[in-house]
Amino acid sequence: MKSSFVFAKIAILLFSLVLLASANHTHEEFLQCLSSRIPKSIIYASNNPSYSNVLDSTTQNPRFLSSSTRNPSVIVTPFKISHIQPTIYCSKKHGVQIRIRSGGHDYEGLSYQSSVPFFILDLRNINSIQVDVEKKSAWVEAGATLGELYYSIAKKSKTLGFPGGLCSTVGVGGQLGGGGYGYQSRTYGLASDNIIDAQLIDARGRILNRKSMGEDLFWAIRGGGAGSFGIVIAWKVRLIDVPSTVTVFETVRMWEDNVTKKFVHRYQRRASNIDKDLTIFLGFRTTNTSDEQGNSKIQIITIISATFHGSRDRLLPLMQEEFPELGLGKEDFKEMSWVQSIVHYNNYKDDDPLEVLLNKTVNFEPNPFKLKSDYVKKPIPDDVLEKLLARLYEEDIGYDFVEFFPYGGKLSEISESEIPFPHRAGNLYNLRYMASWKQGENTTRINNHLSWVRSVYDSMTPYVSKNPRGAYLNFRDLDIGVNPNESDTTSAYNYVKQASVWGTKYFKNNFYKMVFIKTLVDPTNFFTYEQSIPPILHH
Ligand SMILES: *[C@@H]1O[C@H](CO)[C@@H](O)[C@H](O)[C@H]1NC(C)=O
Ligand SMILES: *[C@@H]1O[C@H](CO)[C@@H](O)[C@H](O)[C@H]1NC(C)=O
Ligand SMILES: *[C@@H]1O[C@H](CO)[C@@H](O)[C@H](O)[C@H]1NC(C)=O
Ligand SMILES: *[C@@H]1O[C@H](CO)[C@@H](O)[C@H](O)[C@H]1NC(C)=O
Ligand SMILES: *[C@@H]1O[C@H](CO)[C@@H](O)[C@H](O)[C@H]1NC(C)=O
Ligand SMILES: *[C@@H]1O[C@H](CO)[C@@H](O)[C@H](O)[C@H]1NC(C)=O
Repeated sequence: MKSSFVFAKIAILLFSLVLLASANHTHEEFLQCLSSRIPKSIIYASNNPSYSNVLDSTTQNPRFLSSSTRNPSVIVTPFKISHIQPTIYCSKKHGVQIRIRSGGHDYEGLSYQSSVPFFILDLRNINSIQVDVEKKSAWVEAGATLGELYYSIAKKSKTLGFPGGLCSTVGVGGQLGGGGYGYQSRTYGLASDNIIDAQLIDARGRILNRKSMGEDLFWAIRGGGAGSFGIVIAWKVRLIDVPSTVTVFETVRMWEDNVTKKFVHRYQRRASNIDKDLTIFLGFRTTNTSDEQGNSKIQIITIISATFHGSRDRLLPLMQEEFPELGLGKEDFKEMSWVQSIVHYNNYKDDDPLEVLLNKTVNFEPNPFKLKSDYVKKPIPDDVLEKLLARLYEEDIGYDFVEFFPYGGKLSEISESEIPFPHRAGNLYNLRYMASWKQGENTTRINNHLSWVRSVYDSMTPYVSKNPRGAYLNFRDLDIGVNPNESDTTSAYNYVKQASVWGTKYFKNNFYKMVFIKTLVDPTNFFTYEQSIPPILHH
């Protein structure tokens, strides 16, 4: 008994040494493979003094800064396509998985961490932008940020824009491949709805465009998470006509004020049906307020912020008709150019130069976070909403959020199967629950924050979309794939079935078409990651 136990321990020890040695062996060979094919100046092995800086500079969720799974064996920062093809070759030859990173904003950090041996292909240097004002289109490379794209368009035209996300530091590669929702979506559709061509490197290293990849693959990469199918080098996008003046307003109200409750009650029923030029976001969080007597009180505030693609003269009667209880007047509305509205909502001052959009650092203190999302199809009953918001008091003041992003408008005019992103007509708004905390908290505290956001999500099950319970890919959530009944992924059938748990939440039935396309274009599953689309023939 005892000796066999010791023997087992020795066997395990030997086995681990063999594993370690072979991992080192693979690592060295992989490095050699790269070094003999691409410039050493774009290869960052872990002993390179710049390795940590390159790794951390776009680790956008500080929750993963200390994660032990965030240790790529190498980071490669190519400048051109001829640097990328050899990395695919070496990656295949030595079995080191690839993670593709443009801006590093994946909420679960999937572009820069993994529990299997991996390296990062970091596209930060592939970031040029060409705007064609005449043709109202632009080619934008994957490593460019949204801020750089908006800036480049605005430099050439005051009446052209692009409907992507709000946050200027988000990379174009991931954002356009996964949907791309923002203040412009109700008016002009998602970023993915406005892609007209792409340049993609497939698992065989071929450079494809829309014509040579064919319409099926071109369909899959617009909103399906392009990283399951290849490496997007550039997108060609349709630019939209924006009015020379847009109007923004922001107002903060106390949730305990009956007027606010009346407004939110109406908002749930109307915000997705109002004029599609108007998009109103709602945010709820706790704050510490003081009254005239100096008594402090923790209260929930409702932050109401909006963009209107038109003048304030047109907005005024619209707001008076739709949401008279807010009592907003012309003086509450600010007119500015479209691009200045992006500057405004990135937390800069309205008269800051447009160059702030080129800054790669977010203009606020980034906190570690965990976010979950839902689609709401029927107004949440007032008493349920009260209970949901009351839960904000359970976490640290100002660190947990509930947010409403309205749908409808142009989003509802596009069919569910037009591109993989399926959340179209019938959705009132996307509901987000987010826990965040200060950097450096201990594991116990962090686990409490994570439990909080998961339990809030669970409590909302009866009131949100069902069968499947929808989720938005660019609000990546690794929790939603867990189905304990289907943990056996050794058969091809179970492998796809397991993935369908999260796949149908993000994509509804489009998931199965994506599996089919994946099977055709990447049958050996070279482009694989924790939530990548599986091919049928795998294993
Ligand atoms: C593997 O490589 C690392 C760093 O190069 C080294 O510290 C470690 O001792 C090596 N392990 C083995 C088992 O060779
Ligand atoms: C707010 O609404 C509640 C419940 O309807 C009511 O009891 C209360 O009097 C109202 N408060 C004000 C200031 O109108
Ligand atoms: C709220 O703010 C007041 C005044 O700044 C402070 O004395 C009090 O401790 C704060 N309350 C909490 C719970 O942080
Ligand atoms: C970019 O933004 C950060 C954070 O707001 C700021 O510290 C930095 O100075 C800015 N850099 C430039 C070049 O404007
Ligand atoms: C974690 O931090 C909290 C609050 O700072 C503290 O009360 C608790 O004892 C800490 N737990 C551990 C295991 O260190
Ligand atoms: C797992 O199986 C049990 C028993 O058959 C069933 O009640 C439960 O709903 C299943 N869970 C999921 C997530 O499918």
